[in-house]
Amino acid sequence: MTMQERRRKDRGPKGRPLDDAALGEVRALLGARERRRDLLIEFLHLIQDEYGCLSAAHLRALAHEMRLAQAEVYEVATFYDHFDVAKEGETSPPALTIRVCDSISCMLAGAETLVTALQKGVDRSAVRVVRAPCMGRCAGAPAARIGDHEVDHATADGLLEMAKKGETGVVVPAYTGLAAYRADGGYQLLEKVRKGEVTADALMETMQNAGLRGLGGAGFPSGKKWQFVRSYPGPRLMSINGDEGEPGTFKDRVYLERDPHRTLEGALIAAHAVEAERIYFYMRDEYPAVLSILRTEIAALEAAGLARPGFIELRRGAGAYICGEESAMLESIEGKRGLPRNRPPYIAEVGLFGRPTLNHNVETLWWIRDIVEKGAEWFAGLGKPGHPGIRSWSVSGRVKNPGVKMAPAGITVRELIEDHCGGMADGHTFKAYLPGGASGGILPASMGDIPLDFGGELAKQGAFVGSHAIVVFSDKDSAKAATVNLLKFFKHESCGQCTPCREGTGKMVALLQKDGALNETALRDLETVMRDASICGLGQAAPNPVNHLLTHFREEL
Ligand SMILES: Cc1cc2nc3c(=O)[nH]c(=O)nc-3n(C[C@H](O)[C@H](O)[C@H](O)COP(=O)(O)O)c2cc1C
Ligand code: SF4
Repeated sequence: MTMQERRRKDRGPKGRPLDDAALGEVRALLGARERRRDLLIEFLHLIQDEYGCLSAAHLRALAHEMRLAQAEVYEVATFYDHFDVAKEGETSPPALTIRVCDSISCMLAGAETLVTALQKGVDRSAVRVVRAPCMGRCAGAPAARIGDHEVDHATADGLLEMAKKGETGVVVPAYTGLAAYRADGGYQLLEKVRKGEVTADALMETMQNAGLRGLGGAGFPSGKKWQFVRSYPGPRLMSINGDEGEPGTFKDRVYLERDPHRTLEGALIAAHAVEAERIYFYMRDEYPAVLSILRTEIAALEAAGLARPGFIELRRGAGAYICGEESAMLESIEGKRGLPRNRPPYIAEVGLFGRPTLNHNVETLWWIRDIVEKGAEWFAGLGKPGHPGIRSWSVSGRVKNPGVKMAPAGITVRELIEDHCGGMADGHTFKAYLPGGASGGILPASMGDIPLDFGGELAKQGAFVGSHAIVVFSDKDSAKAATVNLLKFFKHESCGQCTPCREGTGKMVALLQKDGALNETALRDLETVMRDASICGLGQAAPNPVNHLLTHFREEL
């Protein structure tokens, strides 16, 4: 082969000649769909679902069909973990993928041993075993996914048996469908709002009096957010954040798998209040059952005339934690890599496709109907004194009964463990906890009486409650091992846009894993630069567990 031929072969999809067969296949898959730029990720899913991977020929054909540069299609495809981009000459991956969650709660439950056993047991030509970030099944750790089948308390033997029997399809749990939801008074509030019997001003006032705050992690007052969005001239849009990637968080999945219409009604009410022209529901690809439920129920809403066709557009994520950050999510909905935007402007002013955008977490919207029907005082009164509201705590780790616990804002972790989780698991003594998933830091049991809420004492300790994901550790666990697990996650998920986060997360992992005494000076330097100079919350919060390790768990160093 000449040098020129070799170069041509190595250069990937860029400059690759168009393959007529691949173009025909892509056209057949896309059918009559509009070739919109923002649908790029949806189209990549279509191809991958059909052919098991994204070949260079298909990427080339898709670029041609959408009139995009090949590099643009390639950079989007390679940004997302769930896309398997097969390089020139590479064979496609095995037909079946088993994903094993290696996030913090699953690590405690033996995910590492599970991966090793699976790798020994599978026929690698037919099945591949990959590690995956949090699957939102922490209460059933260790969690895995075989094909589209989500599995709790996974064992190697069980998964291998399922592979043999072909039990790899999506399993949709029983849930409240549209008819049952309406029979229970569902969508009556929406109708009142649409008829003007309940005004946008009244809704915003109720939200504010209730003290409803954004439950995606940032805790911004919801009523105020609606006011901001309405203050910018239309046309406006709305998005629902169903990315739920924060390790240890699984409340959104549980609500959508049980009662999806409560969120959908909340969304339609919010959209009406801010006069949004359309709702984009961004749902993570890690939840195939939820995706299936949403497809069915959005179609049911359209058929019932409660939402006009296309008003709620479901978008499927592709395995990138950073796409939970709202501006990155909007980029992803626009069909691009999920790179967080610089602020200002905030998305309430310049959001999706440059329009003022109202974005809410799944659970924030889930509460709207109850708050309006039962009253702001009812909701506010459910919290501890000084902490209005009730929250959905995703609790996992070394407790007897993990799960989503409805409990007051301002509760302490000790109360959660004792009063809501049946105490610590047998043989385990409470040692430490994550108050807010991977990002919120790691605190010792001696700080187990801090009220858990946005700001307050928790913030003084350099921690935060975020998405209310509580992971409980015991005397059998190492805070250092937990910190390494969390930092590896951030390293993997950093979008790479800014140097302090991209390099800092990797350097922290290396320093923590290095033999000998810890280089605390270097870790503290990295912490400062990451906090001060990262664009988004990922890079700013990633040093939290390291800070706490160095401050509260010195005996482990
Ligand atoms: C790194 C990062 C990841 C995030 N992931 C999520 C997520 O998975 N789901 C979510 O609702 N919000 C997430 N957020 C918060 C969103 O940016 C945003 O604040 C939220 O969706 C707003 O909705 P809310 O006001 O209803 O909470 C994340 C933020 C950051 C910085
Ligand atoms: S802080 Fe990290 S994740 Fe956020 S924009 Fe910078 S590199 Fe990307």
